[in-house]
Amino acid sequence: MTHEGRVGPLERGLAVLRAMSEMADMADVDAIRPSDLTRRTGLARSTVDRVLATLVRLGYVRESDRSVRLAPRLMELGNAYLAGSGIPEALEPLAERLADEFDESVSVAVPDGAGVRFVTQITRRRTMSLAFRIGDLLPAERCAPGALFAAGWTAGDWARWRCAGGLAMAVPRDPGAEDDFRRRARAAGDGWAEDDQLIEPGLIAVAVPVRDGRGRPVCAISVVSHTSRHSIGSLAGHVLPRLRAETPVLDHRPAEARPHAGAADSSRRVKEEVGAEFLQSLARGLGVLASLGRARGGLTLSEVAEATGLPRATARRALLTLADLGYAGQEGRRFAARPRVLELGYARLSSMGFGEVVLPHLAGLMEQVRESVSMAVLDGTDIRYVARVPAYRIMSVDITVGSRLPAYATSMGRVLLADLSSGEQAGLLARTPPRPLTRRSRTDLDAVLAEVAARGYALVDEELEEGLRSLAVPVRDAGGRVIAAINVAAHVARGTPESTRAALLPALSATAARIEADLAVMRSAFRLP
Ligand code: PHB
Repeated sequence: MTHEGRVGPLERGLAVLRAMSEMADMADVDAIRPSDLTRRTGLARSTVDRVLATLVRLGYVRESDRSVRLAPRLMELGNAYLAGSGIPEALEPLAERLADEFDESVSVAVPDGAGVRFVTQITRRRTMSLAFRIGDLLPAERCAPGALFAAGWTAGDWARWRCAGGLAMAVPRDPGAEDDFRRRARAAGDGWAEDDQLIEPGLIAVAVPVRDGRGRPVCAISVVSHTSRHSIGSLAGHVLPRLRAETPVLDHRPAEARPHAGAADSSRRVKEEVGAEFLQSLARGLGVLASLGRARGGLTLSEVAEATGLPRATARRALLTLADLGYAGQEGRRFAARPRVLELGYARLSSMGFGEVVLPHLAGLMEQVRESVSMAVLDGTDIRYVARVPAYRIMSVDITVGSRLPAYATSMGRVLLADLSSGEQAGLLARTPPRPLTRRSRTDLDAVLAEVAARGYALVDEELEEGLRSLAVPVRDAGGRVIAAINVAAHVARGTPESTRAALLPALSATAARIEADLAVMRSAFRLP
C-alpha cells in the first residue's frame, strides 16, 4: 500500500503514542511536554496538539500541568492483541503452575520481527537487575526464545534480523554473535533452547516452543533461573521433562466472534461536541484496533464494521493502515492485532504500581471536593489504608498509608463488610464485637450492613470521632467483587448528613467507576497491595 493510501491522522496518532512510550521508557519520567513530542515525531505543533486532544478525549492520555502522560486505558489496545492471540488465556494457568512448582520465574514470549516480545510474566524469584515486563522486546539473539524462533527462519528473515541490529535493539551486537546465534538456532531444532547469561551475568533460561495444530511455533515458554541455583545443564534436566509433558498444542482455529448488538460509532457526536481539535479518523482507527480483541484469531471486515459501527470502507482503510504499520495482520479473511501493538505503552503501563494507578483519580477527586480522600482494603477485622490524598487534617488521628482502623466503625469498612456473605460477616463481627467509640456510634451492625448493601454507599456520621463524617463507596473488580473502598472525610460543619451525601456521592461514585475501568483494563497485570 502506498504511503498516500494510509489514514494520515491514524498514522500520526500512533507516532505520537509510540514517541510517548519511548520517552517514558528512556527517561523514566512519565510527564511529557508537547514540545518534546513535536521534536521527537517531527510533526507540527498544531498536529501534536490535535492528536493529544483526541487521545485525552479517548482516555488514552492524561493531561496535567501542561504535560501529558500515558493512561492505563491505553492498555486496551495491547489487550486486543493479547485476547486475539489467545496465548495468555491458554498458557497463563500453566505458567503459574510451573512457577510454583519450580519456584522460578516463568515467561511466555512471541516472535516480533527481529525480536522477541514478552506476553506473560510470572515472577517468582528476582534473578535479574531489571525484570522484563509484559510488552518488552528483547533482541532474538540474546534470549532463549529467540533461538527457537530463529530455528525456522528463512534467508530473508536472517537478512531482516541483521538490518534491525543496533536499530531497535538495546544491546549492541558483537562480531561473533551471528555465528553463535546461528549455532544456537540449529541446536534449537532439538526442541529446546538455552540462554546461558546472554542478557545478564548470572541469568540463565531454558525455553521450549509452543506449537499450534499445524505444527507452527506460536510462542515459547521459558523458565528463568540464576547460576547461584543451577547450571544451564541442571536447569534443563530439572525443568525440560515437565515443560515437554505439560506444554499444550494451541488451537489455531479462529473462535466465533462473540455475538453482540452492533455498536454505534460515537465519534461523530464527539466530533460535534469537541470540534476541530478532535481527529475523528484517529478515534475510529484506534476503535478498529481495539475491536480486534473480540475473538481469538481476529475478526473479518464485516465483523469489524459491525463491532465499531463504521462503514465497511472506513473500517477497511483503518485496517490497511494498521497492517501497513505492523499493528495488524491479515490471515485469510480475518484481521488480527500483531504483537507490535504492545510497543504502545504496554510495558510501562502494565508494570504500574497500585498507587500510580489510583492516586491520580483520588487526587482529582480531592481537587474537586476539597476534602481528604482515601482508599482502603479489608485486612482481617481491620481496614488498611492503601492510598490517601489529604486536603487538610480534620481527624485527631493521623491517618497515613498503612494505618488500620476497626472495619465495623468506618465507612470504608462497612462497604467492604457489606459485600461479604452473612456467615463471613458474623465471623468477623464475632472477632471484634462492635463497641461504641462516640455517643453516636451504631452497634447494630447487621442492620447497618444491610442498609449499606442496599444503598451502595456507607455514611458514618460522628460514629468514629466527634465532628467527623465520612462517605464511602465500593470499588469492584471486573467480576463484581468488592476489592477496595474509597471515601471522602468531611467536617460536620459542612452541612447536614443529607446535604453532604448529595454533594459528595456523585463525584465519589464517578471516581470509583474510573478506578474500576483502569483495574479492568489492567486485568491480571495488577495485584492489590
Ligand atoms: C525472562 O522471562 O525474563 C527471560 C526469558 C528468557 C530469557 C531471558 C529472560 O532467555
